Amino acid sequence: MNLINKNVESIDPAMVTQLKLADGTLMPQAAMGTFHSDNPDLEAAMEDIILEAIRLGYRHLDCATAYQNEEVVGRAISKAIENGLVIREEIFVLSKLWNKNMKPEEVIPSLDQTLKDLGLEYLDMYLVHWPWPNYHEPGSAGDAVNAHAVPYIHEDFMSVWEKMTELKKSGKVKNIGTSNQTQKTMELLLRDTDHFNRPSYNQMELHPLFQQQDFVKYLISEKVVPSGYMSLGSPRRPGRDRFAEHQADILHPVIQQVAGETGMTPPEVCLSWAHQREQKNVGYVAMAERSEWIKSNLACATKEGLSNNQYIKINGDGSDENLGINTNNRLIWGQVFFWPEARLLGHDRDLLWNDVQIFETELDYHKFRSAAVKFYEIWKETAVDLRINYS
Ligand SMILES: NC(=O)c1ccc[n+]([C@@H]2O[C@H](COP(=O)([O-])OP(=O)(O)OC[C@H]3O[C@@H](n4cnc5c(N)ncnc54)[C@H](OP(=O)(O)O)[C@@H]3O)[C@@H](O)[C@H]2O)c1
Repeated sequence: MNLINKNVESIDPAMVTQLKLADGTLMPQAAMGTFHSDNPDLEAAMEDIILEAIRLGYRHLDCATAYQNEEVVGRAISKAIENGLVIREEIFVLSKLWNKNMKPEEVIPSLDQTLKDLGLEYLDMYLVHWPWPNYHEPGSAGDAVNAHAVPYIHEDFMSVWEKMTELKKSGKVKNIGTSNQTQKTMELLLRDTDHFNRPSYNQMELHPLFQQQDFVKYLISEKVVPSGYMSLGSPRRPGRDRFAEHQADILHPVIQQVAGETGMTPPEVCLSWAHQREQKNVGYVAMAERSEWIKSNLACATKEGLSNNQYIKINGDGSDENLGINTNNRLIWGQVFFWPEARLLGHDRDLLWNDVQIFETELDYHKFRSAAVKFYEIWKETAVDLRINYS
């Protein structure tokens, strides 16, 4: 079904809030997502959707090698340029280095491939998609694991980061950043980078039921712009990221109540909160298929839709007594990225995010790993009922 409606009027991009990166570059606060979330309809229609997003006023596109559609997005960008909707300099194009290519020697060729696929000479922002090289096949099942997966090893991350900084020096990418870091891994990165080489942006899961307030404040204090993905709670996310206890942001009673009070839809309430966060210093990425939703998602970055009271109802007031509606309802646990020792110490889902297995050096990890192998052998020998399969 074609959900593009050319009768929907566009938004003047100059009305969209801009965020300032550490070097002074302006970046539109609202980005259009390009991930099809394994939905065949979204995959098939992506070129038209992205072209429509540009027509409607989006000037920030969130791409990634992992979405396996940069050629498609590239065709939409070229058409938008050919049709006179934009010139290259007016769009902020972001892409991400995929885990599969997270080896120092593969960083530059990966960026070159992304530029070729997108049909561009430079990117406005290039991110390291995840903090480690753990790769899972696109579309793989929720319980699939990669036998070669490893935890966060800082020296390995830094060898990749060094290549990212080379890309920045070469001008092929204007800015570099990260995605899916924790505060601890970000602290390590900032500890070991000088002014020019610091990340200027971190993309992370953020929506009203998962606000990550402390980390967001920390990033802002370090002049790293935080930007949220799954800003609507990703109602069409892949099966591997769905768990029984998950709640839907757009169905939350407070979101529904504020929608009733303002006349906005629940998705608009979520994005208005995203827009107003931290005095408009946080970005958001949202994906939509139909013209009306693409436009309304962008429009949220042009005006204050929420009164102070409504904002506080969702966000809380910064005190422990009023946390708003944040319930730490994380959607992406990333269990497909687990390494062999991940579950040995009783961590089921939270291991990517709780920092208990991160290492400075490969040597440190190998020490830990050999102790874990011994631990498992003894456990296997002695336990009456061993429920863990370590390999
Ligand atoms: N850095 C990372 O690791 C990472 C991870 C995940 C996502 N991302 C990025 O973030 C983007 C957004 O995430 P997401 O697509 O998972 O989640 P999302 O933006 O929270 O949700 C998108 C879904 O919400 C529905 N929707 C959108 N606007 C709506 C509206 N105004 N009213 C009602 N329903 C609406 C859409 O349905 P229809 O399809 O029916 O229009 C769409 O499929 C991705 O495309 C990707 O670029 C990055």
